[in-house]
Amino acid sequence: MKFETAAVHAGEEPAFSEGASGDVVIPIHLSSTFARVDVAKPTGGYEYSRSSNPTRLALEQKLAAIEGARFGLAFSSGLAAETTVALSLLKKDEHVVAFDDLYGGTRRLFTRVFQENYGIDFSYVDARDAENVKSALRKDTRFVWLESPTNPLIRLCDIREIAGIAHDAGALVIVDNTFASPYFQHPLALGADIVVHSTTKYINGHSDSVGGAVMLSEEDLYQRIRYNQNAAGGILSPFDSFLVARGIKTLALRMERHQKNALTLAKYFEGHEKISAVYYPGLRTHPQYALAKKQMDGFSGMISFEVKGEGKAALRFLRSLSLFALAESLGGVESLIEHPASMTHASIPKHEREKVGVTDSLIRVSVGIENVKDLVDDLEQAFEEI
Ligand SMILES: Cc1ncc(COP(=O)(O)O)c(C=O)c1O
Repeated sequence: MKFETAAVHAGEEPAFSEGASGDVVIPIHLSSTFARVDVAKPTGGYEYSRSSNPTRLALEQKLAAIEGARFGLAFSSGLAAETTVALSLLKKDEHVVAFDDLYGGTRRLFTRVFQENYGIDFSYVDARDAENVKSALRKDTRFVWLESPTNPLIRLCDIREIAGIAHDAGALVIVDNTFASPYFQHPLALGADIVVHSTTKYINGHSDSVGGAVMLSEEDLYQRIRYNQNAAGGILSPFDSFLVARGIKTLALRMERHQKNALTLAKYFEGHEKISAVYYPGLRTHPQYALAKKQMDGFSGMISFEVKGEGKAALRFLRSLSLFALAESLGGVESLIEHPASMTHASIPKHEREKVGVTDSLIRVSVGIENVKDLVDDLEQAFEEI
């Protein structure tokens, strides 16, 4: 089944059995528990909604299908998904190699929870060069954690090359595929073992649900993570499962439009006299344009850029916009803009984020699906204010 077809149909085949109503859309099964015919006979395999729920199961099948995985699991947030993966794989005092440009909340989870409380050792490296990953690997490295493109600097890493290096050293590879979405990038096909998503972003796509997902094909790993989905309990609710399943049906259409608008804006930023740098993998000037063409099917809708001058000019620009909402998050139909240093990445100490390149003049844009002319007009009037 092709992507667009799976996005509409997977997990939602109408049921025609006796008593079934033939819904073409998965119903929202709100029941927290399921009655049994007898003590040892759960009805249809369902016992209690934390362990399994028909609406969540439909979404999980759809998530697996769009990521080209055998298994999908839905969580109450992207970070709940990440936490459950990490606690399923790590033992006290083990080691992890991670890209040094990561979503701030992921870095906070790793440092403040897994490192400080459980003694996990993290090495953050610039994974744009796979050799840096290679030199950081140790005998006790359990996994390599990647984002590509990264949040917020839109950097890429060669997933296939790093997977080869990590596997040779006995480490797993986990890719946060949130920025590309399953429409534009397939990390499992490139050799990754596990994909995680914040479904809050492109996958749901309408900024009305917080959720997370894990997709993978290896049965043993799946059983461990599924066990902890129930044991730790970070599940997605039936209502949110319905919303995310509905969002996925238009993912392909939305991603095409996000990308089209983003390319127009990236070119506009590139030619702007008040901007010193633009980061978008669909620009030929992006240092990793060739890698983007090789490993992605498109460039997605996230752009970062640096405003010339002190960080104050960036803040003045942000305050002058009216159509772009000044908000964290990304991947919704509406355009959002933010200041990573004081918003999404504020939890990272200043010297750490500046070392990576998250400066006070950096601005991150999640390009929506509006008419791009209205977006340019709003940006233009805000640039006039600085
Ligand atoms: C790349 C990336 N991964 C993970 C997350 C965490 O997801 P959530 O906010 O759904 O917990 C985010 C949130 O912004 C993100 O941008």
